[in-house]
Amino acid sequence: MRRAKISVIGAGNVGATCAHWAAAKELGDIVLLDIPEREGVAKGKALDLMQCGPIEEFDSKVTGTSDYKDIADSDVVVITAGLPRKPGMSRDDLITTNVKIVRSVSENVAKYAPGAVVIVVSNPLDAMVYTAWKVTGFPTSRILGQAGALDVARFRTFLAMELGCSVEDIQALLLGGHGDDMVPLPRFTSVHGIPINQLLSKEVIDRCVQRAKVGGGEIVQLMGTSAYYAPASGTIQMVEAIVKDKKRILPCAAYCENEYGVAPGQKGQGYFVGVPCVLGSAGMEKVVQVQFEGDEKKLMDESISHVKDLVGTVRKIFPDLA
Ligand code: APR
Repeated sequence: MRRAKISVIGAGNVGATCAHWAAAKELGDIVLLDIPEREGVAKGKALDLMQCGPIEEFDSKVTGTSDYKDIADSDVVVITAGLPRKPGMSRDDLITTNVKIVRSVSENVAKYAPGAVVIVVSNPLDAMVYTAWKVTGFPTSRILGQAGALDVARFRTFLAMELGCSVEDIQALLLGGHGDDMVPLPRFTSVHGIPINQLLSKEVIDRCVQRAKVGGGEIVQLMGTSAYYAPASGTIQMVEAIVKDKKRILPCAAYCENEYGVAPGQKGQGYFVGVPCVLGSAGMEKVVQVQFEGDEKKLMDESISHVKDLVGTVRKIFPDLA
């Protein structure tokens, strides 16, 4: 049986950690690619990871390279290439540099791995997914962004800390863009089926929501660079759902037109926003629609409008990506 092939572009903190989780879960063979100047880093990290195999008991092959020919026949390509945040920076501050990087990566992905499902992790996420879509020309089902898996994990972590219970028992949902205006939905949050508002006060839930929203910034302040363990873990959760065709429902940045009223009736003019999706071997197989109540729709609309502004900035700086 052919093993799945997972290529990770960018062998920095997020990329190498993606390779780590993917190998540890034995999801397939992994190619770790970086620019020629950092080929040694990609090769070194790949070899280092391979040497965990006998201890951790996996047979995944991990290969480092700077040659895009090595990503041929990938089932999934994860794009982590790009600058991370420094203290005081928002994700949006990275836009010009990272569009250029993601653009050159996407050209190569389209050329060398034309059948792959692409998962973008580089920030600002919502603009980078758009860039990858425009440049590759892949169908929208094969372009996804990783954001919600991480944001939900952060929210679940903070709730579990408050409750003193296992993170495994907490189910939660966050929608919208991958920014400080993401939309947490406490109404869809429960602990082993028990609505969260029966276990925690509104004040405590709001505190967890707020901490999840700025969870990335908290880590940038502490470390001087952006997070990578949980972002990589969230990414590999998506990769696993795809390579195992699990049909998991996970929040991802996925293309929406009529869905969530993003661009109703405007064919080809939609945007990638954080929504629950069914993930399987075809990539994004379905967007799951949630019925909003109260001010949830207003919060979602505000978040969508931020995504549109970001994409507007990309189009202004790079008119050929419009
Ligand atoms: N092609 C391939 N790799 C590239 C390219 C390129 N054109 N340009 C840069 N890279 C590589 C860098 O050489 C580096 O190894 O991308 C890697 C980025 O690694 P880090 O600097 O460690 O950044 P990391 O923390 O991994 O974050 C990467 O993911 O979560 C996001 O905000 C984060 O945008 C950032 C991205």
